[in-house]
Amino acid sequence: MSLLSIENLSIHAGGKPLVAGLSFALAQGERLGLIGESGSGKSLTALAATGLLPAGLTASGSVLLKGQQVIGTPDRQLDGLRGTAAAIVFQEPLTALDPLMRVGKQLAEPLARRARRDGRPLSPRALDAAMLEALAEVALPDPPRIARAYPHELSGGQRQRIAIAMALACRPDLLIADEPTTALDVTTQAEILTLIDRLVREKDMALLFISHDLPVVANTVSHVVVLRQGEAVEAGPVAEVFARPRHDYTKSLFAAAQRFDTALEGGQ
Ligand SMILES: Nc1ncnc2c1ncn2[C@@H]1O[C@H](COP(=O)(O)OP(=O)(O)O)[C@@H](O)[C@H]1O
Ligand SMILES: [Mg+2]
Repeated sequence: MSLLSIENLSIHAGGKPLVAGLSFALAQGERLGLIGESGSGKSLTALAATGLLPAGLTASGSVLLKGQQVIGTPDRQLDGLRGTAAAIVFQEPLTALDPLMRVGKQLAEPLARRARRDGRPLSPRALDAAMLEALAEVALPDPPRIARAYPHELSGGQRQRIAIAMALACRPDLLIADEPTTALDVTTQAEILTLIDRLVREKDMALLFISHDLPVVANTVSHVVVLRQGEAVEAGPVAEVFARPRHDYTKSLFAAAQRFDTALEGGQ
């Protein structure tokens, strides 16, 4: 059975279609990339997959997450599924963090929730230990110091590591990473990608990886879906799609990426 199975998903704002007739599936442990230019519907698809579409947008079709229908299901009923089935890491880590709360306390919340849900509530001391362990797992140095910090006292890369730790705290089967490195400098981007790659492998999670950075996608996932104006124009194993793109739009994405690389090299 698929972990995430999307069939004929359409998303509308008023009468305007933003995503149309999208279908793909992701099994336990699989890695799928969603690529396409800005505005092609990648983030909306990620949000629809977890029932987090903003008010004013409506979805139709079918989104099965661990066999449960997400579309049309009231928020309250999805609460249990979110977090345990899927968690999202966003482009901007500050969206996941409360600026007024020390990061250790924030990270402890999903850890405590998951433990309660598993019927094994943690004592304050055990929760503290689990929180420090979660910080160490995302390779943050000096976890006790980081735990006491407020988000603004950390670097962008450190904040993204915290956001990843919070996503993993609920031990999801599926990690959705929506442009997780776009807001970071190049060196930090590489470190965060290595971290995501390692954690997904170690925890045998499935990964839905959203990016407009084609080389990064090629290195991270096994299959891709190419989105253009809310529609999938091409899909398949990453090696095939990247070696022999069939659709003009996919070819143009590669051409644009190549022009960008050439410009960068020329600038050095
Ligand atoms: N809340 C919203 N209301 C209306 N239109 C939206 C909303 N959110 C996104 N859109 C539109 O939907 C399209 C797809 O957005 P998005 O999924 O964020 O694109 P991507 O992540 O691929 O850059 C864009 O044209 C965007 O302007
Ligand atoms: Mg987006």
